[in-house]
Amino acid sequence: MSSLCPNKIQRRKATRRLFLRLCGTLLGAGAAVAVEARYIEPNALDVTRHEVFLPDLPAAMEGVTVAQLTDLHRGPHTPDATIHQAVAAVVALKPDLIVLTGDFVDGDPSDAVPLREMFQPLRARLGIWGCLGNHDYYGSVDQVAKTLTDSGEIRLLRNESHLLAPGFWIAGIEDTSQGYPDTPRALAAIPPGAATLFLTHNPVGVWTCTNRPLLALAGHTHGGQIRIPGLPPRLPPGMQGFPLVAGWGLFDRARLYISRGVGMSMLPLRLGSYPEVAFFTLRRGDSPPRTLPTLAGRAARKAERVLRSAAHHLA
Ligand SMILES: [Fe+2]
Repeated sequence: MSSLCPNKIQRRKATRRLFLRLCGTLLGAGAAVAVEARYIEPNALDVTRHEVFLPDLPAAMEGVTVAQLTDLHRGPHTPDATIHQAVAAVVALKPDLIVLTGDFVDGDPSDAVPLREMFQPLRARLGIWGCLGNHDYYGSVDQVAKTLTDSGEIRLLRNESHLLAPGFWIAGIEDTSQGYPDTPRALAAIPPGAATLFLTHNPVGVWTCTNRPLLALAGHTHGGQIRIPGLPPRLPPGMQGFPLVAGWGLFDRARLYISRGVGMSMLPLRLGSYPEVAFFTLRRGDSPPRTLPTLAGRAARKAERVLRSAAHHLA
């Protein structure tokens, strides 16, 4: 027979109910976050728009547009549908120039074959140019490069440059952690002040060319990929001490943009870091770059809020 008085029994029951309710809330919140990271954010592609000023941009290049695709990570963690969505977004932007800043595959070089097929719709009057990322080296970097460039539509810049138009250059380097980057060689043919796009998969590549007023485009970080509120974003390998995980940075004379990229590595999850296609309009001038508000970004965030609310109710 219980020796507890009725009041104590009632209090214990109330405490137990509160504990169970708390557990239910935590489980529900955990499930909602899991649904968000696994199914919502990886597909909530954000098209960001930017205006970039280059001091010596030739008048004929004023208003030229550039679309950046990076970190596709074709492989086990990134659904093909996500890559198709990003390619379709670039096609819809009708850019003058397309740049691909590495991590085409997650590790298996044979994944470059289907990826090349997925790139088929891409068109740009100034071409499709790229550099390689650290994941492209994990299997056979030469196989990845050959597969992508075989048709002649895509050209990779491996410590080299190309004159796109009079006074307007593009250059790219090998990956800074897995390859043999050589920025002096990549920029050797380019006059010091000339308008230049510089492709470096790892953002740290900008440290090798801060004396030039160029636009450096990078990926690699996935914007942190999984960002836990209150904790600093995780920097991927080869970025120790770098001050930026996504977005714009000014490094002496160089402007750097780090895109959050499209795919995922290690885990098929994104949290607090939407996949991104970045779109740049080039202007002549010396002002800092500007990020413009976008309808697509707002629509993606609204859709995400609706889906998040639905996931919350389901959980
Ligand atoms: Fe990556």
